[in-house]
Amino acid sequence: MERTYVMVKPDGVQRCLVGEIVSRIEKKGLKVAALRMNVMTEAAAKEHYKEHSERPFFGSLISFVTSGPSVSMVIEGNNAIKIMRAINGATNPIDALPGTIRGDLAVDMGRNVVHASDAPESAEREIALHFEESEISGYPRAD
Ligand code: CMP
Repeated sequence: MERTYVMVKPDGVQRCLVGEIVSRIEKKGLKVAALRMNVMTEAAAKEHYKEHSERPFFGSLISFVTSGPSVSMVIEGNNAIKIMRAINGATNPIDALPGTIRGDLAVDMGRNVVHASDAPESAEREIALHFEESEISGYPRAD
């Protein structure tokens, strides 16, 4: 059993895609173990995206992700990290295949609707950054 961090970014919330995205995740067979909507603080956003801090787009990425409410989730299931990356599709919507969230719902690299952790280490770090362990539910998924 694996956990990953998933965010519906402010563009996804503003376009009312939260239900669509959660539905795709649940229908695949993954479990929503925690979910919160809030406006990410600048400090949390900078920590979350710290690996990109030297990139030219860092400033615009931080202002965008803190520009309005986003939905943070802990998603749980077998191979949840790789499966969530596959459900999301390629980071650049130009390369994202139809059938993926970005392939179906996004056209812009900076406004690509969703984020998911890319590896076990980042999943652990991002979950700990955005959630207390007590906020993550342990209920069973009944399939
Ligand atoms: P995400 O999966 O959240 O991880 C880092 C984010 O940076 C990525 O999705 C993109 O939204 C954003 N990003 C990556 N490259 C660029 C770029 N060249 N210009 C603007 N945003 C980018």
